[in-house]
Amino acid sequence: MSLILSKDTTVAAQLLINGEVIGIPTETVYGLAANAFNKNSVLKIFEVKNRPFFDPLIVHTHSIEKIKEFADDIPGKLMQLMMRFSPGPITILVKKKDIIPDIVTSGLDQVGIRIPNHPLTLSLLRQLDFPLCAPSANPFGFVSPTTAQHVIDQLGDKIPMVLDGGECKVGLESTIVGMEGDRVVLYRLGGLSVEEIENTIGKVEIQINDSSNPKAPGMLSAHYAPTLPLFLGDVPKLYSEFEGKRVGLISLQNEFAHLKFSSKKILSPSGDIAEAAANLFAALRSFSAENTDVILAAYFPDMGLGRAINDRLKRASVKN
Ligand code: TXA
Ligand code: MG
Repeated sequence: MSLILSKDTTVAAQLLINGEVIGIPTETVYGLAANAFNKNSVLKIFEVKNRPFFDPLIVHTHSIEKIKEFADDIPGKLMQLMMRFSPGPITILVKKKDIIPDIVTSGLDQVGIRIPNHPLTLSLLRQLDFPLCAPSANPFGFVSPTTAQHVIDQLGDKIPMVLDGGECKVGLESTIVGMEGDRVVLYRLGGLSVEEIENTIGKVEIQINDSSNPKAPGMLSAHYAPTLPLFLGDVPKLYSEFEGKRVGLISLQNEFAHLKFSSKKILSPSGDIAEAAANLFAALRSFSAENTDVILAAYFPDMGLGRAINDRLKRASVKN
């Protein structure tokens, strides 16, 4: 299949109308999108990604009005979050209407919905009379793509188009929130920080499972696997354990200057956590091509987007 890489949303819309699966940009990561109302198209997403059917998909739309067409009784606090942060890196879990096929939600009665903050994808969504379901556009279990080229590298021979929206500005997947009774529960740390959410609606409960799927705990032990083994923790101590090896480093700023690394990825020279988040996945990917045996990383400050970065580093790391 010859692949189209372009910014042309009309071409993208036509492919989606024809039932195809294409790569789309969002502010968080690139998605692998299909018509959420077309079961055969949704099926193709699972095939292209090699994703198990028990892992549900997020539905993307362009406005809060539209969400009401896909979901029943959106709880007030979740609505408040959507009003405040959408379009943006937040996904809400709400009771689905029958119009959303079961394959999208893996048979669950709730659907994840979000309004992505990317001008091309918002324009695309407005041209369509159906919403798009889209997981991150990586083969199942790998690091999410933050550029069109990342999508092409891993899935380019399986899809007809990647809508080229440049680099993802946030660089971490959306934060997922839902309700249990009258409590707001956060199931995935992501591009919207816990602090921003709590400043808006008060204290939330955090329930992060080993997997990103609250309904299927423990299933994704090796999620976000980079190609090389990554060790997270006390960098100088870990360094001493890998004598004779070519050791790479991921760090926020230029730290550990006394150690000699074969390759160093500094995510934000000025120590800006949001900038570091935007650079994280590309940095994880970039090691594979280099002369590195192991990657070391230290925990990031456990606040703001640092929490989500730590979550992704933990998932990417070798479990001891
Ligand atoms: O930022 C994002 O959310 C990106 C972009 C493309 O929008 N999408 C994304 O999708 O990260 P994905 O499929 O890679 O991760 C979504 C996670 C899944 O692992 C799934 O377990 C959870 O969201 N999820 C989706 N729908 C759900 C539902 N109805 N109930 C519980 N969990 C759900
Ligand atoms: Mg994913």
